[in-house]
Amino acid sequence: EKGGYPHFMIKEIMEQPQALRDTLRGRIQGGRVEFSDVDLDCCLDGVEKVFIVACGTAYHAGVVGKHVIERLACLPVEVDIASEFRYRDVLWGDKSLLIVISQSGETADTLAALREAKKKGIRVLAVTNVVGSSVAREADRVIYTWAGPEIAVASTKAYSTQLLVMYLLGLYLAQKRGTLPEEVIASTVRELRGIADKVEAILEKAGAVEAIAEKYAATASTFFIGRGLDYAVALEGALKLKEISYVHAEAYAAGELKHGTLALIEKGVPVIAIVTQDELQDKMISNIKEVKARGAEVIGIAKEGLAGIEEETDELFVIPGEDSLLTPMLTVVPLQLFAYYMAVKRGCDVDKPRNLAKSVTVE
Ligand code: M6R
Repeated sequence: EKGGYPHFMIKEIMEQPQALRDTLRGRIQGGRVEFSDVDLDCCLDGVEKVFIVACGTAYHAGVVGKHVIERLACLPVEVDIASEFRYRDVLWGDKSLLIVISQSGETADTLAALREAKKKGIRVLAVTNVVGSSVAREADRVIYTWAGPEIAVASTKAYSTQLLVMYLLGLYLAQKRGTLPEEVIASTVRELRGIADKVEAILEKAGAVEAIAEKYAATASTFFIGRGLDYAVALEGALKLKEISYVHAEAYAAGELKHGTLALIEKGVPVIAIVTQDELQDKMISNIKEVKARGAEVIGIAKEGLAGIEEETDELFVIPGEDSLLTPMLTVVPLQLFAYYMAVKRGCDVDKPRNLAKSVTVE
């Protein structure tokens, strides 16, 4: 059942190219996004504000979704953790859309946020991996991620397909609202088509990530830093690591380091720095210098061709060149692999980490 792999998690990490291809199928026509499987217009017409609500990894996909929808479709987006969202006084407005993201479609807090919105007459769009799940049944419309069954408690292929749906939705909204020139839509669609091949190329270099994990397996505490979309992925990389390897991991928006966390950086502390956002790379290099000056060991995840990054990092994993908007789909892969190999080397129960359940159906 694990297809020859020692754990479901690595099997599911390796299945990502296929999951992405399946999620894209039927949703692109002639250089444009078309959701041939679902009529989204009743959900999207006239929307002036978007809320994205989810938990854990799905929430992290929502953080990327916020950047993507704001940038492509010029719509304001609030993203929130379901267990926070449902207990605060949300200023809904009547032209709002709630997007809930949930792999299982059964997460209690996410479902409660959905029900709250429905009670208020707000339109709800669900992004889920499970056909017929509670979230799928109760939302007005559903966009399925076609990741296939995800067994490992740590979510991997569900996250990458959720990201892909965020891009498709951002582009679809941009088409509807006329916020992007046709050629930008066409070129972004082209890049999305090529993403699965790039993920495949990264997976072929899993051995390089394993060697990095070998070096840092005994570490007690780590930091993940980035800016913009790289920060969104840092959140996911840190969650993966703590969840399955029990290593303390903290994600930090790199510009915030000076506001407190820098005090924790001392000799030998691994700092995983993600550097793929073109307009923010100089700022990131300065942040890397800051932590290095305090003795950190820097593991860089950078886009190919980034000048000067090699000299600043102790270890470097290079991802293929890509539009800065789409790099989260690539940078998350070495982070998933890093968490996996760290957990294996530390003798952890990779697929069933202590204290956690695959689906959190209690509040
Ligand atoms: O099924 P859901 O996507 O609603 O689950 C949400 C979280 O419980 C889930 O993503 C959790 O954070 C994962 N174990 C992370 O790997």
